[in-house]
This record gives sequence, C-alpha cells and structure tokens, in this order.
Amino acid sequence: MDELVALCKRRGFIFQSADIYGGLQGAYDFGPLGVELKNNIKQSWWDSMIYESDNIEGLDSSILTNPLVLRYSGHEDTFSDPLVDCKECKSRFREDQIIDKKCSNCGSDNLTEARPFNLMFKTGVGPIEDQDSYAYLRPETAQQIFTNFKNIIDSTSKSIPFGIAQIGKAFRNEITPRNFIFRVREFEQMELEYFVYPGDDDEAHDSWVQKRLSWWCEQGVPIENIELYDVPKEELAHYSKKTIDLMYKFPHGIEELEGIANRTDFDLGSHSKKQDELNIKANVLNNKDSNSKLAVQDETGKWVVPYVIEPSAGVERGFLAILNEAFTVEDLNDGKQRTVLKLKPHLSPVKVAVIPLKKNDDQMVNHTRSLIQEIKKLKIGRVIFENTGNIGKSYRKHDEIGTPICITVDFETLENGTVTIRDRDSMNQTRVDSEGLKEYINNKIKS
Ligand code: GLY
Repeated sequence: MDELVALCKRRGFIFQSADIYGGLQGAYDFGPLGVELKNNIKQSWWDSMIYESDNIEGLDSSILTNPLVLRYSGHEDTFSDPLVDCKECKSRFREDQIIDKKCSNCGSDNLTEARPFNLMFKTGVGPIEDQDSYAYLRPETAQQIFTNFKNIIDSTSKSIPFGIAQIGKAFRNEITPRNFIFRVREFEQMELEYFVYPGDDDEAHDSWVQKRLSWWCEQGVPIENIELYDVPKEELAHYSKKTIDLMYKFPHGIEELEGIANRTDFDLGSHSKKQDELNIKANVLNNKDSNSKLAVQDETGKWVVPYVIEPSAGVERGFLAILNEAFTVEDLNDGKQRTVLKLKPHLSPVKVAVIPLKKNDDQMVNHTRSLIQEIKKLKIGRVIFENTGNIGKSYRKHDEIGTPICITVDFETLENGTVTIRDRDSMNQTRVDSEGLKEYINNKIKS
C-alpha cells in the first residue's frame, strides 16, 4: 500500500484533501491523472450499463435528500455502526475493530458499551437554522433511483425487466476512515437497480453476479483474484434478502469490492406506503390499488411492486483494485528495475505521449506539435507533448503512469513522416507511417 500511496502523490493521482491545513480525515482529492483514471472507470461502467444494454436508463439525482426518503428507506433507524469509547484516552472505535476488548490507542480495557452511531451526514437547508430545516447527504445513490421510479417509467415507457443506473457521490460519517481511499467519508458509487417481477429475482441475481465479474475482469481485475462471499443472514443489510459480495485482495487485506444485493420490494414497497399515507391524508386517493404506488401492472392488469437486484460498486475501491493489479516492478536486462502501471489502455490517464528526440530543434518540435493535433482528432483522451529531450526519462515516467503508447519524433520523421512507437508492456519499438500510426493507436486504445 505504501508504494501505491507514494506513487499516487508523486505522479498526481491522489492527494489528501486540504493537506496544506493538515488534511481532512476520510476525504481525498483526485489530481490531474487521478481524475482521468476515475473518469475512465466510470465511463467504462456507464458504457457497459447504458450503451451496451437495451433496457437500462441513466439518472443523475440530487445529493441533498429529503429526510422522509431516508426515514422510509429504513436508514434513519438502522444505518449505524456500533460505537465504543475509551474512557481513559477518549478514543472512539467501531466495536468490530477492537481486539481483545482493549483500546488500540492506549491499551486500556475501560471501554463503554457499544451504542449505535448513525452514519448519515445532516446539513441545514435554507437561511433559518431550526431543527426541521435539514436534509441528509445521501448515504447511497440508490434511494433517488427508487423515488424516481415512476418518473422514469412514465417518461420512458419502460417495462419490467429494466434497470436504472446512476454514478454519483455518497457520504458516510465513518467512525474510523482508513486504508487510504478504501474507507472514506465522501466517495462515489456506481449503482444499478435492476427491476424484475417477484419470482424472477433469484435468476437475475445470479446473472448480475456473473456480469459484474466479467466487467471487473475487463478492467484488469482477474476473476481468479475475486472471491464470492455469500453474506450470512445476520450480516445482511436491513433491505436485503440475499447479498453476494465480490471480495478482492486489497493491499491491506481481503475486503468488499462490490456488493450485489437482492433488495426485494423493500424500498419501492416502503416508499409506496408513504405515498399512500400522504394521499389518504390529503384525501386525493380515489383508487386504492393506485398508480401512486411505486408499482407496475402485470399482464393481467394486477398492480405489482417489482423486486430489485442491485449491483453496487464504490468507484474509489475499484480505483484502488485496478491500480493494485496494474502496479508492477520489473527487472530489466541491465540489472535495473522499472515501475510500470499495466493499466488496460482504455483506463490509462494519458493515452499517448509524443516525444521529440531533441528539445531545442524547432523543426522537430513543430513537427511534434502538428502530429499531436492529428492524434487529438482521434478523440482518444489525453495526448501529451513530452519535451524533455530525454527519451529514457520520458519512457520511465510514462511507464510509471501507465501510458500505453510513446511516440518518438526523430530526424527520419522529418524526412519521410515515419515515427517510432514504443509499447509500454513489451517495450518493443516499431516504425510506422502516419496511416499505420492511426491504426495502431485506435486498435491499442480500444483493446
Ligand atoms: N446501495 C448499497 C450500498 O450503498 O451499500
């Protein structure tokens, strides 16, 4: 982990938030390369959910959440961790982090009983501070998918089975954030809620476990490094009938990379209950079987509250797993070593670096600039002008940040337009003309 953290800071992937003021625990900032990798992971998830499927719609909902949503979802009552205080040194821990009933800070066994600590962040809304003017920062993106269920059905005419996918920030006031970006207070989720008829849920659940394993594999996290954990009943979240966690061997230990839950009709059912109460109160509910419920009519016309399968992945955890898999230190023939991030090219923060052999040669530099403009037309992501005049140093830098292609412009380029391509993983070099270059880049980045 230490090597990864150091690389992330040195090369501008991840910084501690507000580090000039001593930081803010559980919050991180993604730097110039980090934001590219993060966006690429999210885009790859979005592609697989929305563009490669026919029956999944997207959503981008608000973070500020009406407290009633989280009351009816069960989060106000149950979304808590057991908190223990050390009476001697005043440290606070999650109960499951205490070893041998002793404080891990001072060793005292003078600890309080565990009490539930709700993990949701509350914030004031509007100019008047009173106890009723508040909202929550959402603890999961899922709830606004449920509350928008009818809006999306009505505006898209979708029928069961179909899904709603969302990527966005979520917040949890973790008692002890730790393990770099693994357990943080502000993070992003990639969540799909896939609605099916009751009875079709078990098969859909199995199918989503397989689909998600394949997706991780395409991002460079091999299936053989992921274990399936069938979460025991006593550990299930309050809404879940069954959850399969994809467990990955992170640098700090085996932990959850993604959870795939069968949430049954728990959420749509709970929010429907609230809709009925509101409507009855306002005396506007004429039809008790009503379409004010978050329900659909089956082929017989009966109103049914769908079941939902939820693959829910944390972007930061995915980032860490992908980085961990890609991070490689190789021995070279000359007895030296190189660090190389063997990222899948579609995830690499920089796709191509173009390096003129001599940095002060006007002709070569100008040629490099126009070549970069041509490559940018391929719309592959970041293309960088590396004007160090030191090819070896540039290769080392781009190996370390995972750039799949380095291109060298030299004297021969000025004569006949050909360039040298150097492949990150094999370190093989090939000379190509401009057509060959475009083909190589397109093939490589889409591989
Ligand atoms: N939506 C599931 C979770 O946030 O854990």
